[in-house]
Amino acid sequence: MENKPVLAVIGGSGLYNFPALKNTQSLEIETPFGMPSSPIITGDLSGRKVAFLARHGIGHVYLPSEVNYRANIYALKSLGVNRIVSISACGSLREDYSPGHIVIPSQLVDLTHKRERSFFGNGIVAHIGSADPYCEKLSNMAYTALLDSGATIHKGGTYITIEGPRFSTKAESNLYREWGMSIIGMTACPEAMLAREAEICYTTMAHVTDYDVWHVSEEPVTVEMVVRVLQKNTQIAQESIQRMVEMLPEENDCNICPHLLNNAIMTQPDKIS
Ligand code: ADE
Repeated sequence: MENKPVLAVIGGSGLYNFPALKNTQSLEIETPFGMPSSPIITGDLSGRKVAFLARHGIGHVYLPSEVNYRANIYALKSLGVNRIVSISACGSLREDYSPGHIVIPSQLVDLTHKRERSFFGNGIVAHIGSADPYCEKLSNMAYTALLDSGATIHKGGTYITIEGPRFSTKAESNLYREWGMSIIGMTACPEAMLAREAEICYTTMAHVTDYDVWHVSEEPVTVEMVVRVLQKNTQIAQESIQRMVEMLPEENDCNICPHLLNNAIMTQPDKIS
């Protein structure tokens, strides 16, 4: 595709209201998996093309379990996207990751159980490596882009993905802490894994909105807490995206993610229709 986006952002619809984004276009892209959560907005940021997708739909209409993750990743891939930064809310499972902080996690645990989690099947068998689920190179760039934001940034930690839509019980939250989890959310899986299957570099800026429900002197998480912190952090999110766009090399120089399917497909080529 001509002039493909240097970066795609999957996040909240609040991010669309981006004063620095010029020449915007709204694209309705149909995929073999159905429609993505929202039209994809492309535009120029600091003179470079960027794509935005509202994960929960315009007006926040899809539960984490209802998001069509496969259509979202497929639609971005069809635009030539090879780098994705996900912006999401998360709860903290550690004292030192406080509301308002931003975490770039390095590991994932998947407790979801009712989502389509692979592009493979139906005659094509593949097993993608997921030992390091996030792109290290893109995560380093996200970290550098965030350093100037004034916010406290943590690099590393494990994001546990729960099915939701309910928040955790205290027993669950304490169990996840005993397991060594750092943050908790409802959307990283299967999004991150599907990006890998699509050979797209993927990283997350997870905005800590609450202490989940384990903390003895903090109130249990509510939607109001999540929305309040996300709104407060919108400008930080936008500025860091812009800084990231400015520092990305034109060609993706990651030597891992764009080759993830090498040796992953087991089905004999003559059996693939
Ligand atoms: N998103 C934001 N805070 C969360 C929490 N405590 N649990 C799950 N998802 C979240």
